[in-house]
Amino acid sequence: MTSICVLGLGYIGLPTAALLASRGNRVYGVDVRPEIVETVSAGRVHISEVDLDGVVQKVVNAGMLTAHQTPSPADAFIITAPTPLTEDRRPQLECVYAAANSIAPVLKRGDLVIVESTCPVGTTRNVAQLLAAARPDLAIAGGGAAISDISVAYCPERVLPGRILIELIDNDRCVGGLTPVCTERAAQLYESFVHGTVLRTDAATAELVKLTENAFRDVNIAFANELSMVAEHHGVDVWKVIELANRHPRVNILNPGPGVGGHCIAVDPWFIVDSAPQQAKLIRAAREVNDSKADYVFQRLAQTMESSPEPNVTCFGLAFKPNVDDLRESPALAIVERLGRAFPGRVAAVEPFIQTQPASLKAAGVPLITLDEGLDRLGAFVLLVDHTAFLRVPRERLRGRKIIDTRGVWARA
Ligand SMILES: NC(=O)c1ccc[n+]([C@@H]2O[C@H](COP(=O)([O-])OP(=O)(O)OC[C@H]3O[C@@H](n4cnc5c(N)ncnc54)[C@H](O)[C@@H]3O)[C@@H](O)[C@H]2O)c1
Repeated sequence: MTSICVLGLGYIGLPTAALLASRGNRVYGVDVRPEIVETVSAGRVHISEVDLDGVVQKVVNAGMLTAHQTPSPADAFIITAPTPLTEDRRPQLECVYAAANSIAPVLKRGDLVIVESTCPVGTTRNVAQLLAAARPDLAIAGGGAAISDISVAYCPERVLPGRILIELIDNDRCVGGLTPVCTERAAQLYESFVHGTVLRTDAATAELVKLTENAFRDVNIAFANELSMVAEHHGVDVWKVIELANRHPRVNILNPGPGVGGHCIAVDPWFIVDSAPQQAKLIRAAREVNDSKADYVFQRLAQTMESSPEPNVTCFGLAFKPNVDDLRESPALAIVERLGRAFPGRVAAVEPFIQTQPASLKAAGVPLITLDEGLDRLGAFVLLVDHTAFLRVPRERLRGRKIIDTRGVWARA
């Protein structure tokens, strides 16, 4: 049995802690928020993730997972603290460094420290330097000693919310240590519970791999979004263009939409831009295209509403992607809020995945109504998210409607 301290009990940390505990490790879960510690200590969960409640209850009842506000001594430490963007789109790493500082006093010779948070290149090395400054009595990896007392490695997370417990086991992992020994030790920890392949590299490469994955998605979506604006400029149907172009054996264009949201794809490419602004020209441009798409959609809708005899519009979808309740950084939500403020009393929203009207919609005067109410409402329809529930709407309920479709679902029906 290994003892493992997981720093941060959020969407990544809690499933990781619970899974490690279910595999026979003694796990100390740490979070700075006392209400989270209280909830997990009671064997309950504060986040919605498939099957997580049952696993947490089981491992807490078995005494294999306990929750605390401060770290305990352990053989391995895994940092899963948040890494958001600042207002001026720079990485905010305070929580990762605070987590590293909090473990410094309990570190002992032979321990392994792993950073899992999405981070700019160089963060793992900074964590090691911070530990070295706090614990001059220990030889921290990367500090130049022939043999280090503390191994430090990076291992990014690439799970999909809704499938976290499955993907934590099945996905391939990319592990990069500050030294080959660090890499090997961290890889062995993941190999104890991962069925996918654990790929070994160095810390900086692993850091850039994670950012690259999301920047790749962002750039490809930006291409589709830019194409949708070019096609509209020419009065051509972008969906037809994509369908026909994708018949080329080596072309695979993604679908355009109202912009890019969520806490990963819309955030992580900025970490690359911030660290290499001269080199990351395309990645920055892609971010700007995707951010500008929401504004473009709003302007097009506003023009339509100003010139339309239809008094009302009903917006379908607020989430940042299909079939989730997640509104973080959602372009659909931002568009609906702006429409509500610009056209008071004319806009309503349908979002089957949430039951409570978000405060920002309330402030914008946009009611949240059911799908049936939305389909019965007079006026135009704006499709912003391709939820399955919307794809299943009988076509006769759309007949004769003015439809503005940012996802190419109803317009092509
Ligand atoms: N959620 C995802 O799907 C996902 C996927 C891949 C990567 N990531 C990355 O993983 C990291 C964590 O993301 P998340 O979604 O779990 O975030 P989260 O906000 O759900 O959870 C982070 C938790 O860390 C706690 N915390 C903050 N500072 C702390 C400290 N000093 N010590 C201990 N706990 C602390 C917070 O209170 C919070 O509960 C981020 O870097 C994110 O970009 C997330």
